[in-house]
Amino acid sequence: MSTPVPVSTPAPAAARKKVTTLTFRQKKERGEVITMLTAYDYPTALAMDKAGVDSILVGDSLGMVVLGYENTLPVTMEEMLHHCRAVARGAKTALLVGDMPFMSYQVSIEQAVRNAGRFLQEGGMDAVKLEGGRERADAIRAITGAGIPVMGHLGLTPQSIHQLGGFRAQGKTASAAKRLVEDALLLEEAGCFSIVLESVPARLADLISKRLTIPTIGIGAGNGCDGQVLVTHDLLGLFDRFTPKFVKQYANFHAEMQKAFADYIEDVETRRFPAAEHTVEMDDREWEGLLKELG
Ligand code: KIV
Repeated sequence: MSTPVPVSTPAPAAARKKVTTLTFRQKKERGEVITMLTAYDYPTALAMDKAGVDSILVGDSLGMVVLGYENTLPVTMEEMLHHCRAVARGAKTALLVGDMPFMSYQVSIEQAVRNAGRFLQEGGMDAVKLEGGRERADAIRAITGAGIPVMGHLGLTPQSIHQLGGFRAQGKTASAAKRLVEDALLLEEAGCFSIVLESVPARLADLISKRLTIPTIGIGAGNGCDGQVLVTHDLLGLFDRFTPKFVKQYANFHAEMQKAFADYIEDVETRRFPAAEHTVEMDDREWEGLLKELG
């Protein structure tokens, strides 16, 4: 790593209050939209927190956009906790939600509570998220019973891609949509403080949002949700494999990075870098002394 160069830091933004699950509820009651983004590391979490995002999700999308896995299924508790700690060191205001990885909450209720607890104790998170509907209600009751806030996740649940037949929109038939409405009501009753709705028809997400007292956070679920979340690597154009239709790309950092790396390689190969301003000099007298010493 190079020697740090002092830079002028911007004046501190007006101190914001820590966002809590209560803030989520109040924002819904006031009709204010909730903003959420994913982060997996310290500098991204820091920038997001400074920008004023309400909540940061350390999503298990980590597996695909950072670790290069094919899908989210191989992600482990240890990998999640490692990245949660980095995010917690960067973000002090946003509500921090840790995503429970595949097989960390499905095997037994006891394991689900223990693993949820690790996100708070070892990962520095404020809450956990887990995927699934009625089949997860008992685990959610037990986790919230232990004092751990739970965010639900319905619709396209990537940990079930093999059961769903791939990354496909959900709730498109009347019967599938009815099941989703019932599941959302059950998750609210089980104690979730909020629910992510992923890849469901906009009018269904709007209806669910109106029927629940807890806020919904949409991703590919239209503008009727109480909040919105995106995978940051999609928003920044950092994930090269594919961009879901519902993503708005605000930058193309993958192309920017590739260009910066190519420029560096060219500078080094043509000896334009390092230049004088990147170089440590030695006093002439000391240099002469050295040459004399060496003979
Ligand atoms: O893992 C993740 O990033 C998520 C979001 C897509 C909601 O679950």
